[in-house]
Amino acid sequence: MYACLCKGVTDAQVRAAVGAGARNVDDLSLICEAGAGCGGCHRLLARLLSGRGPTMCPEKDRTPAA
Ligand code: FES
Repeated sequence: MYACLCKGVTDAQVRAAVGAGARNVDDLSLICEAGAGCGGCHRLLARLLSGRGPTMCPEKDRTPAA
């Protein structure tokens, strides 16, 4: 599944970046470019950074964007 459409980055790539040491969206942007575009994916990236998976109901996700 794509986690960041602007940069064509998948959730697997984001998880790999987290495994490589990414701790916030800025880190992800440097490592794999996720989040370096419009910012619409930041909420999902925050979930992935916190170890939670993507939700099928993003409108119910109250996680603050990073
Ligand atoms: S969808 Fe990730 S920066 Fe736009």
